[in-house]
Amino acid sequence: MTDGTLTVRIARKTVEAIDVCSFELVRADGLPLPAFSAGSHIDVHLPEGRVRQYSLCNDPAESQRYQIAVLRDEAGRGGSKSIHDQVHEGDLMTVNFPRNHFALAHEAPHHLLLAGGIGVTPILCMAERLARTGQSFSMHYCSRSRARTAFLHRISTSAFAKAVTFYHDDVQRIDLRSTLTSVPQGSHLYVCGPRGFMDAVLGNARELGWPESRLHYEFFGAKVEKQETDGSFQVQIASTGALIDVAPNCTVLEALSSHGVEILSSCEQGVCGTCLTRILEGSPDHRDSYLTAEEQQANDQFLPCCSRSKSPLLVLDL
Ligand code: FES
Repeated sequence: MTDGTLTVRIARKTVEAIDVCSFELVRADGLPLPAFSAGSHIDVHLPEGRVRQYSLCNDPAESQRYQIAVLRDEAGRGGSKSIHDQVHEGDLMTVNFPRNHFALAHEAPHHLLLAGGIGVTPILCMAERLARTGQSFSMHYCSRSRARTAFLHRISTSAFAKAVTFYHDDVQRIDLRSTLTSVPQGSHLYVCGPRGFMDAVLGNARELGWPESRLHYEFFGAKVEKQETDGSFQVQIASTGALIDVAPNCTVLEALSSHGVEILSSCEQGVCGTCLTRILEGSPDHRDSYLTAEEQQANDQFLPCCSRSKSPLLVLDL
């Protein structure tokens, strides 16, 4: 485990809802796992060499197991189908140590947790943590139907069940404005879910004057926007001067790789930040969900797995 990876065993695989399975991971050598904080995720090395990020959804006080849950996405790139179909109890897998880009602001007087669908995973971990430390929070969990609500029984029978409100699209939808206005002053908001859900929550929060410093969010499985108008451009490797063409239907990462320039990547959806690359000249066309608005405006770095260029040439610090 010196390289930041661990070998884990699938101790349990459980169907949690329609199309959702949870996986309980324990260390293959039986020792305690590295500690994690609420909101953390792990990189999971899937069969066929894919790497995907999954949020941990168990109580961070537990040191003997990591729990993740995966929604089977028929339209996805294959990672979720692979873990659903090819990973079984007893299998060994490699995972990276937990990392956290979605941490709780423990100083907040109240925490408002909003989950959409499988976005419940980091939110549930946060609820476990806040309940354990006795902090004030409320959780709102929106899903398409009761049968698609992962962890319904666990949450309903938990010590914090009274702090949770469920919404099912086929019964009653959440009133975002009233949810966002009926919390104490100074509350922090945490949201995770599908893109449309997150855009609605964050859009309403911003319109209602919530400052960015109190908005916390994590995108996953973001659809990278391809545009009809995507054109070709060039990237230059600063250290060698080599010029590489990027065609309209090709990512910068793919173009670099086809010329023998390999950049470490993981999600390939502009979510994880693994491929972050510095820009020395030129104007990137940011398509990621990882950089903040200020970081994107600085135009000195970009995510070549999804972002493109507004200028004919980008000079990369490679
Ligand atoms: Fe994840 Fe590029 S590989 S952001």
